[in-house]
Amino acid sequence: MSITIAAFSGSLRKDSYNTKLIKAFEQLAPEGVTIETIDIGKLPLLNQDLETDLPQSVKDLHNSIDNADAILLATPEYNRSYSPILKNALDWGSRPQGQNRWNKKPAAVTGCTPSVLGTFGAQNHLRQVLTYLNMYTLQQPEFYLGSVADKFNDKGELTDEQTKKKIIQFWATFIEWINKIK
Ligand SMILES: Cc1cc2nc3c(=O)[nH]c(=O)nc-3n(C[C@H](O)[C@H](O)[C@H](O)COP(=O)(O)O)c2cc1C
Repeated sequence: MSITIAAFSGSLRKDSYNTKLIKAFEQLAPEGVTIETIDIGKLPLLNQDLETDLPQSVKDLHNSIDNADAILLATPEYNRSYSPILKNALDWGSRPQGQNRWNKKPAAVTGCTPSVLGTFGAQNHLRQVLTYLNMYTLQQPEFYLGSVADKFNDKGELTDEQTKKKIIQFWATFIEWINKIK
């Protein structure tokens, strides 16, 4: 089995829990799974004027999506929605018109917050957009991680055993989903 996953954290914060969550997913990935973490902080804010001569960062994003078998997203929650940084990347991936790179990509949505709800509001909005982009988003299991400050150590490593178990189970279902769609 050889599967390439393009992974996106919706936070640019240096100590982002969502970026740490992506790293934990990478560390717990099954054999044969390669994670390419995409830096979406370099993308310009969406501006259709740039579509006539796409910036290199947008071309790189397009290539990363094209080369990926599937997409893994970790979103923070901002005012009960998902992150604008992630929206910017989703929008660039769908442009220019008629060249939606996300089309028919299997995807999984995750996210974490310091508070208890664990990005329910954010993921709820995010899933709507992925549906419009015609991505095949894994429905179950959902992955909400709250009280995240207790689950990572000072080095940014996931230490919570229950969450590790949850990630391993999540991977198993996600890989099954990707293979079904392939
Ligand atoms: C503008 C803004 C709005 C926020 N709104 C919410 C929210 O609606 N729900 C929530 O649980 N946390 C909210 N938070 C707190 C974030 O969940 C928290 O800052 C989190 O650590 C951000 O993710 P990161 O660690 O990956 O950067 C908000 C933070 C900011 C900056």
